[in-house]
Amino acid sequence: MAGDKAVAQVWASRWIFILAATGSAVGLGNIWKFPYMTGVYGGGAFVLIYLFCIALVGMPVMLAETLIGRRGRHSPVVSLQNLAVERGASVRWAWAAVMGLICGLLILSFYSVVAGWSLSYIIDMGKGSFTGISGDAAGAAFGALTADPVKLIIFHTIFMAMTAWVITRGVVAGLERALRLMMPLLFLLLVVLLGYSVTTGHFMDGVRFLFHFDPAQVKDGLLPALGHAFFTLSVGVGSIMAFGAYMPRRAPIGATIITVGLLDTVVALAAGLALFPIVFAAGLEPGAGPGLMFVTLPVAFGNIAFGQVMGVVFFVLVALAAWSSSISMLEPAVAYFSDRHAGGRARFTWLLALICWVLGIGTVLSFNEWAELKFFVTGADGFALWAWGVEGGKTFFDLVDYLTSRIMLPLGGLVFVLFAGWVLGREVVREELELKNPLFLNLLLVLLRVVAPLGIAVVFVAELLK
Ligand code: TRP
Repeated sequence: MAGDKAVAQVWASRWIFILAATGSAVGLGNIWKFPYMTGVYGGGAFVLIYLFCIALVGMPVMLAETLIGRRGRHSPVVSLQNLAVERGASVRWAWAAVMGLICGLLILSFYSVVAGWSLSYIIDMGKGSFTGISGDAAGAAFGALTADPVKLIIFHTIFMAMTAWVITRGVVAGLERALRLMMPLLFLLLVVLLGYSVTTGHFMDGVRFLFHFDPAQVKDGLLPALGHAFFTLSVGVGSIMAFGAYMPRRAPIGATIITVGLLDTVVALAAGLALFPIVFAAGLEPGAGPGLMFVTLPVAFGNIAFGQVMGVVFFVLVALAAWSSSISMLEPAVAYFSDRHAGGRARFTWLLALICWVLGIGTVLSFNEWAELKFFVTGADGFALWAWGVEGGKTFFDLVDYLTSRIMLPLGGLVFVLFAGWVLGREVVREELELKNPLFLNLLLVLLRVVAPLGIAVVFVAELLK
């Protein structure tokens, strides 16, 4: 039978899990997506709901994934199948992991395109194209990049190849060394950026925008914030579950994942605090959308001492952070196929990367040639699955983002917490977490069984009623 043997390697210490999971969690989601979504959904209310979603839903899902992964010791699909059989439950639970693996591929398709933008910015930064630049000029530069499909495809191709290449070599080896250096540097440069945003004189405007709570904005921000909590923690797909399979038996899961969650949240908030004062100081639009980071950062680096060098380093770090995240999107699918057919790891990796690459072309074109192609259009004359040249609706990129972050991730996460809470159940959770305190155990079980699933359900229902 496929997958009888456990995974070959177990990581030497829980630090490697923390590094891999943090590497997966911290990425474009924190530095690019969190600020632009906060801008689009109006600020404080979105941030507050996002923090609640992290604590009450995202972290329980991460706990569930780590538990299932370590207990199952296989690719997510096979782990779920084996554990379901062992507990006398239906193997259909594993469908969630199959959906997750598809979702990971879909996310990678657009993630690689955006990571490609960062690659392109490394070069422009290095050439000094942004020296002394104004907000408007930075906006025009971003517009010129996204209007050029050939350039976008080239960088998308480079990034996808980088991702596939690391995976063919096995996740552990290269990743660990790179992350050790990268994470502290990223923190350091975020602090430098924060320093700059303090000097803009608009720091408090940024703070107010991020933390001023306006109840009127809650309704629109619910599902986006929930979806982003999943996205930023890399949960709902099985990425963390795939890493959990390599975790040493005796490592404390609870403390470990709290470290990962905190680091991820700190980076996102720091990025927000660094970017928004620049947005206000340069007279830019907070709700500008996916270009937000690519327009504000050149303004910052173009106007400080040593900005050219720091800008290059920063975009290199962004690309590296994206790299360590993209690997984890592909890993569940690759792990699944190599679980089934020993020895084919490299071939599967390149094949899957090729599929993502083709899908990514859709995202590339949605910023230029296909900008008028809209899906899910609700207009004056009813609903259309797709239409050309109309107001509203979603571009190809919006569509893939919507299907993954707002639907597939929360659904996958829902199944994972239910599985951990109800199917694995009390004894397994106690054993895996080595919990001696029954009060603590009960609290966690309530989170897994009730709070997290209910949270997801409530947000879905609220969205449907809107
Ligand atoms: N969390 C990463 C980020 O914020 C993205 C990511 C990596 C991801 N692996 C994932 C998102 C799995 C969803 C599922 O950039």
